[in-house]
Amino acid sequence: MRTEQAPTIQRVDYQPLAWSVERIDLHFRLEPTGTIVTNRMVCVRNPAAAGVGPIRLWGEALERISLSIDGVEPSAGALRENGSLLEIDVAGPEQSVTLEVVTRVNPKANTTLSGLYLSNGGFFTQCEAEGFRRITCFPDRPDVMARFTVTLDADREACPVLLSNGNLLEQGDLPDGRHYAKWEDPFLKPSYLFALVAAKLVALEREVETASGRKVLLQVWVEEGNLDRCEHAMDSLIHSMRWDETTFGLELDLDRFMIVAVADFNMGAMENKGLNIFNTKFVLAKPDTATDIDYENVESVVAHEYFHNWTGNRVTCRDWFQLTLKEGLTVFRDQQFSADMLARAAGPEGAASARAVKRIDDVRVLRAAQFPEDGGPMAHPIRPDSYQEINNFYTATVYEKGAEVIRMLHTLLGPEGFRNGMDLYFSYHDGCAVTCDDFVDAMAEANGRDLDQFMHWYSQSGTPRLRAAGAWDAASGSYTLSLSQHTPPTPGEAEKQPLVIPVALGLIGPDGRDCALQLEGEAQPGATTRVLALNSAEQHFRFVGLAAEPVPSLLRGFSAPVILELDEDDARLAFRMAHDSDPFNRWDAAQRYSERIILASAGGTMQAVPEAFVAAFRTLLEDTALDPAFRAQALSMPAEGFLLERMSVADPQALRAALVGLTRHLGSVLAGEWRALFAAMQVPGEYRYHPADAGRRALANLALRYLAAAGDAEGLALAQARFDAATNMTERFGALAALAQVSGAAREAALQAFHQRYLKDPLVLDKWFALQAGAWRWSDAAEPTVERVHALMSDPAFSLSNPNKVYALLGTFFRANAGEFHAADGSGHVFWADQVIALNATNPQVASRMARALENWRRYTPELQASIRPQLERVLAAEGLSPDVAEVVGKALS
Ligand code: PHE
Ligand code: ZN
Repeated sequence: MRTEQAPTIQRVDYQPLAWSVERIDLHFRLEPTGTIVTNRMVCVRNPAAAGVGPIRLWGEALERISLSIDGVEPSAGALRENGSLLEIDVAGPEQSVTLEVVTRVNPKANTTLSGLYLSNGGFFTQCEAEGFRRITCFPDRPDVMARFTVTLDADREACPVLLSNGNLLEQGDLPDGRHYAKWEDPFLKPSYLFALVAAKLVALEREVETASGRKVLLQVWVEEGNLDRCEHAMDSLIHSMRWDETTFGLELDLDRFMIVAVADFNMGAMENKGLNIFNTKFVLAKPDTATDIDYENVESVVAHEYFHNWTGNRVTCRDWFQLTLKEGLTVFRDQQFSADMLARAAGPEGAASARAVKRIDDVRVLRAAQFPEDGGPMAHPIRPDSYQEINNFYTATVYEKGAEVIRMLHTLLGPEGFRNGMDLYFSYHDGCAVTCDDFVDAMAEANGRDLDQFMHWYSQSGTPRLRAAGAWDAASGSYTLSLSQHTPPTPGEAEKQPLVIPVALGLIGPDGRDCALQLEGEAQPGATTRVLALNSAEQHFRFVGLAAEPVPSLLRGFSAPVILELDEDDARLAFRMAHDSDPFNRWDAAQRYSERIILASAGGTMQAVPEAFVAAFRTLLEDTALDPAFRAQALSMPAEGFLLERMSVADPQALRAALVGLTRHLGSVLAGEWRALFAAMQVPGEYRYHPADAGRRALANLALRYLAAAGDAEGLALAQARFDAATNMTERFGALAALAQVSGAAREAALQAFHQRYLKDPLVLDKWFALQAGAWRWSDAAEPTVERVHALMSDPAFSLSNPNKVYALLGTFFRANAGEFHAADGSGHVFWADQVIALNATNPQVASRMARALENWRRYTPELQASIRPQLERVLAAEGLSPDVAEVVGKALS
């Protein structure tokens, strides 16, 4: 029998708690199978709730040993339990009571990786969103902010390092080979930001000064063998500190800031106050094991978590519906930081292109992950109205679309206006738990703007369509641009209000140069790019003073998270591929042109790749004036996930065939050009992580991919030589990825050699798993990927209990290899259900992420739907189904 559906929680039901917590003093006697947690907290009546009502605490998977209020056990009638909720009546008039609760937990048995758990013999915690209640009874909501002191007591040998939030007050030895440490966090914080670590670790340390001259200690804690892989994370942390000081005037507020790496972690990383806990994947990097992309990811995740210290921790969320308050804003901040870092490395000449490359990366993610979410059964506004399981709402919508919404504010208000809004936001809300309205209100007030209509971005789901059409009037030299918007209905939201859509645009003259823009009624022409704010269903903009019909370049820099519907013929796309002064739009023109060809070929309406496309593609390939990193972007195909979303009936097989066909064609007709490019993109000297070098390596690797896809013998020889001689992971893995495309002995030998070389290196093996799970079949003779994935589950390095392994092997197959996952015989779907059911029993969060791979099943062909439906039903009927998976599969089937 399946478990009952979790009740749906509604945003409008928010009520402050009657009792809050002022101080909490925690004592942990850490033992792998029976840790005793003694929690003494000062509970106070909450003026915001008039103090009427019981003390409410949540506890989950806890064995309660004792509970007392002011030293007295509550009478049976004063204590009610309902699921994880515990209510205690306080009979008297006291404003404040001391509640002590002692519980026992079993970290070793905790496979969910939420709460207190073991990883490689060490103790770690993860509390966001609702993990603290799995450690002790507490009003586990972000609007309860308390002052924490924590004492850890553990075996000295097994856990020489004892960490928690804030400052170390004291430490010392205890009898029986144990020791202790006592920590105090000087800042009020919600329980989701609590953390402890007790493990055998070593630290890379640096002492730096903040802008105001305070000395702070920075530490990156890892297992001993990884100490040579921490430098980049440390550098990234220091760069993040400097950036937040100069960009937003925000300083580190603690005497010490720690990053701890752990191999078993559900997510990327966690911003616990002063004690960030990271998935090893986003800390460890050295040239032999990490690619340029890994280096980039480490930098941006370190920055993201560091930036949370202000946007998330100092000012936090009132309730979990406000998640985008901290996540959208912090993603925006880390995107800006990375763009600034890239621009700085590129120098003044290359800065614009470097920024565009970063923007392209971010938009690719948005289109491939968020657009499909917005078009499926899990569609939700960046501030959702309801949820069954909050862990399901750490989504691309809340994070990536949320960041786009902040970016639009930045665009509409300008950098200075945005900064003023941020300053005002902190001046009002520092130390508080607030809502998205509070944030936008501060932006509005600081800028004297009315942002009421803008709030629809917070309340409406779905990807808006922006339709554009232009009319040229030769007689008056004017060009009228008509812009209209509409958002298709989403579950529970039939009607949509018009949004405020900032449309950055330029007009390109026949000579390929931007025209100075002058709207009718304006005295003179101005800039060549400007931002129009579309705020009704339809609007017209008349540009005057033009000598010839211009080509519009709309949504420059992707100024809004919308789908642009604009009729452009092939010639116009080729023209913009060659001339658009906005590098983002230049890339986008190439994407649109490829998309058109791929979809026509997948739909059977195109037999051959048009010469004109190849010519435009070749021009980009050979344009040495363009930065290599940009060329690598412009010569890459649109993401499969995005393309599937663009098909009226998603047909992964047909799409894959079209992608294979186009890639091969471009590989073979341009083989000479690719080889020359590969030769030109060699990076001499020792590896260093630098964006300029990374761009060259990315382009060289791309050349190998195209050549290998086309089966070009010379190209394969280049890949083999590169694989054998590579001195860094970017080149070695790039070559392996090319070789792995062609079935046969060379492929297997290279995979084998790589496996052998990195046998002891779990993070590198993740790449090896992912590469095989993501493999396309370039010939009919090749082995179906599902068989390889199945076989790899028996590899000794694979484990269903390690999220990184699951994401690498199963996640890549389910979520990034549609062509193989949706094999016509349905084998992928059966395999999916088996794995979701298996994971559900041990780690519901990971299971739910895998479950989401089929949520958009109704968009597929009838044959595929018929194959998927019974598997969804099988999962829904599984015994002991978690609320996490039940919500995803339930919504998919409803
Ligand atoms: N708050 C983390 C981040 O985005 C993500 C996270 C959520 C980690 C839930 C663990 C659990 O920075
Ligand atoms: Zn975050």
